Amino acid sequence: MPVKKAKASEERRRPVKKAEASEERRCRWRRKRPVEREVACEEGRGLGNTEGREDRMRRIIFATGNAGKMKEIRMILADLGAEIVSMKEAGISVDIEENGSTYEENALIKARAVAAAATGDIVLADDSGLEVDSLGGEPGVYSARYMGEDTPYSVKNANLIERLQGVPDERRTARFVCAIAAVLPGGQELTTRAAIEGRIGYEEKGEGGFGYDPIFYVPELRKTTAELTGEEKNLVSHRGKALEIMKEELRKNESVDSQRYTQTK
Ligand code: IMP
Repeated sequence: MPVKKAKASEERRRPVKKAEASEERRCRWRRKRPVEREVACEEGRGLGNTEGREDRMRRIIFATGNAGKMKEIRMILADLGAEIVSMKEAGISVDIEENGSTYEENALIKARAVAAAATGDIVLADDSGLEVDSLGGEPGVYSARYMGEDTPYSVKNANLIERLQGVPDERRTARFVCAIAAVLPGGQELTTRAAIEGRIGYEEKGEGGFGYDPIFYVPELRKTTAELTGEEKNLVSHRGKALEIMKEELRKNESVDSQRYTQTK
């Protein structure tokens, strides 16, 4: 698998004395986000940190280049009390071949590739897709590559509608599925999965979201996921739910980790 590591920024490589680094992080942090950090920590929601643990906000790198997804992810993870950065913002550029046969495998492939280029950060990645029951679960894990990666979604959506011509409502069932993988600084790996059930519509509706959202109709909401606001979508979506489960896993993991830290100190 060709994996190209980007240069870590000079800033991150520069050797600094521990106390000096810790003070610098504390100051940088306070300058940056005092309110978010204090609220998260007071409510016991914040994630700690293993290195300079009491001083620095935990950083989470999310392994995606998709701006639409990154927007949703930042919103969903906002209450973690961690700094959420994209691969690009972390200065990491890797070529990743998603050759797994499940969402979990692909999410782990992405998270591991980025974790190999990152130190001391939690790396998260997701893999998701649309499964249309009357098409035998297509496009599934190939959702991004369906009809070619660069084909506009207006064309992909029109094609799916066309393939379902004559298929009645009750057999237009579909779901968005999402797996989230985490690679922790100690090398531990976690995965979570969730789905949202819906139906393929007869035409595109809504301006929000991305990808297949305009044709994914959620009967209970009487709207497509493209007709939901970002907040509304995050509450019900496959990604929102899988990330909520992952947030709990990360919090559990951090508290186990900090108990260990206290005992061995
Ligand atoms: P991934 O980036 O490899 O996980 O590809 C996921 C693909 O599945 C996206 O590029 C979309 O085609 C589709 N997809 C996943 N989640 C959503 C969503 O929330 N809305 C619309 N399309 C989605």
